[in-house]
Amino acid sequence: MPVIAVVNRKGGSGKSTLAAHIAAWCARNGSSVMLGDVDRQQSARAWLKRRDAALPPIAPWAVDQKNMLRVPTGITHVVLDTPGGMHGFELARVVMFADAIVMPVCNSMFDRESAQACHAELMSMPRVASGRCRLAVVGMRIDARTNAAQTLDEWSESLGVPFLGVLRETQLYVRSLERGLTIFDLQPQQAATDLAQWAPILQWLRPQLYPPQAANDGSTVLVPPTRTLAPKSAVLPKTVSEEVVSRHRGALPNSLMPAQESMVPGGRLSTLSAGRTPATPAKPVVKPTLARTTRTTDGPQIPQFLKRG
Ligand SMILES: Nc1ncnc2c1ncn2[C@@H]1O[C@H](COP(=O)(O)OP(=O)(O)OP(=O)(O)O)[C@@H](O)[C@H]1O
Ligand SMILES: [Mg+2]
Repeated sequence: MPVIAVVNRKGGSGKSTLAAHIAAWCARNGSSVMLGDVDRQQSARAWLKRRDAALPPIAPWAVDQKNMLRVPTGITHVVLDTPGGMHGFELARVVMFADAIVMPVCNSMFDRESAQACHAELMSMPRVASGRCRLAVVGMRIDARTNAAQTLDEWSESLGVPFLGVLRETQLYVRSLERGLTIFDLQPQQAATDLAQWAPILQWLRPQLYPPQAANDGSTVLVPPTRTLAPKSAVLPKTVSEEVVSRHRGALPNSLMPAQESMVPGGRLSTLSAGRTPATPAKPVVKPTLARTTRTTDGPQIPQFLKRG
């Protein structure tokens, strides 16, 4: 089950906008997709409530009898929207499960500096540094009359991160989202410029979301990724890798969202906080499989919605 996370610690950088669009694109492709907030704002959930039932469906988290958030049965693709300011354990928890991370970045010095710090933290995590979790940048809210796109492209290059292009600043996004729509739900002629801007982003995402189809997909690469991360076989210097793994060892989650219950109104306090969750050693990560629940020695069922291994 491919998991795409939209991450940037800078607030207002366009994470929810990007996440909603990626989920809507998956839905348009006929996939059973879930859009979930890792975010107490629950922006994605609020947006989904506005979405017309006649549109290709996007599921929210399911809430079980124990007020736990779970991936609903039958979901094949997961898109995670994340909060601004996310770092440390919260960020590591998302990275553990993400196959790819898209980072929306606006073009201001403040936005780039914040994104750079986020990128540095991501690269300190073996899954990202080794390329097991791919990372790319999308320029957000770009005014075509400026050199913002070029600035962001050069900035991404300086970091060695693929730059997938830009989305222009337009009220089309704002108005669409207010109606529970994305530009993928509009008539193509209404959003031709924006759909064209999405082409290289989707081109990059497609192999993550649809690996077999991508392998046989002879479609034209409109804008190939300009840079790649370290090859998948790359091995981090032992000292770095061990340092990072040991920093997270013992704090690795049984669930991506041990704090998830606190995100459900009325939910009881989580019994899955890092301190009380049985330590799980860092394991080489393989493809995610959906596991509904796991029984602990304490007895209660803990959701492991994206258990790997
Ligand atoms: N391409 C765009 N053109 C115009 N407005 C946009 C565009 N993308 C996003 N916006 C607007 O920018 C604002 C911030 O976007 P969004 O909520 O997606 O950011 P965010 O990173 O999720 O914010 P937060 O960190 O608060 O969760 C919203 O009002 C959104 O409608
Ligand atoms: Mg948001």
